[in-house]
Amino acid sequence: MQEAIEILQREGTLIFPTETVYGLGARFDSDKALAKIFTAKGRPADNPLILHVADITWVERLAQDIPEKAYALMESFWPGPLSIVLRKKPEISPRITAGLPSVAIRFPSHPLARKLLEGVGIPVAAPSANPSGRPSPTREIDVLEMEGRVDGILLGGDARVGLESTVLDLSGEIPRILRPGAVTMEQIRAFLPETIVYSGASDKAPSPGLRHKHYAPDAKVFLLKGSPASIADFVQRASPSSCFLLPEGLALGYDEERIITFVPGGDLEKAAARLYSALRDADRQGRSEIYIAAFSSAGIGEALMDRVLRAAQGRIVTLEEV
Ligand code: TXA
Ligand code: MG
Repeated sequence: MQEAIEILQREGTLIFPTETVYGLGARFDSDKALAKIFTAKGRPADNPLILHVADITWVERLAQDIPEKAYALMESFWPGPLSIVLRKKPEISPRITAGLPSVAIRFPSHPLARKLLEGVGIPVAAPSANPSGRPSPTREIDVLEMEGRVDGILLGGDARVGLESTVLDLSGEIPRILRPGAVTMEQIRAFLPETIVYSGASDKAPSPGLRHKHYAPDAKVFLLKGSPASIADFVQRASPSSCFLLPEGLALGYDEERIITFVPGGDLEKAAARLYSALRDADRQGRSEIYIAAFSSAGIGEALMDRVLRAAQGRIVTLEEV
């Protein structure tokens, strides 16, 4: 931990665990360190970074005109998987905000992330620690692939949530969810009933990151829709180079590496925690197609469906009744 703190203080880049996904951090006030994040990830400069803090009081160093309702959300959901977009202080580097007038801020709950941030003593800018366009890393083996591209890696086991934080924009008139996550729309609407969900339909995406290709493995991903019987039939006939993420009921009959139980006992949180590792494992095994059986989009299911559809780049297979 002490070494990790010093790497960041000395303007290095460090991969560290958070409860959502691993982050690739640099101190927020060093242009040189921030530039290294973009190089290590191959990240386009028009995609802004989230600032990570270790206390609500740090937010005032970074943002201004903070609405009262932002504090209610911070008190309820921090530390945790919610990033809040606020109007930035003028001194925040445009490298962090990609030139936007706003900045995204998050207080992570992972004990190692908290200890690290407290030790560094200042905010740390951190995108997810994947090469740009790839699924975010949720395990130690995933971040070890970045060895040599960063100045240090702090290992912390598997990420508990497994999907990136909810991004909520409070910098405008109407609260908008720019990226769904483990803090759900229902939870946010309990505080801010007027919250809308950004649909992703327009080209002028307010969250620049949403314009870019995301979360995609090398294998082609498909969302699979159909009755249990039609899915079972499809699995039987599919090529051996494909793999399947199925609900427990459907996966039970098989003892094959290419069949993965995705939603054990209907538990969507477990499915969320396993999505990115399953996509990465499919690539490691050289699969050419990944079929993911449709699931409920209630609660965290909304965030999960968002990531699956992005990975599938809109590809959906609808099966006929057998
Ligand atoms: O869970 C997470 O949020 C992880 C961990 C490491 O904290 N971080 C993460 O960062 O997912 P990244 O860079 O992969 O995704 C940040 C998202 C991008 O979609 C970006 O466009 C959006 O947040 N974002 C950042 N600043 C923004 C701003 N000022 N306005 C709108 N969107 C912003
Ligand atoms: Mg990312």
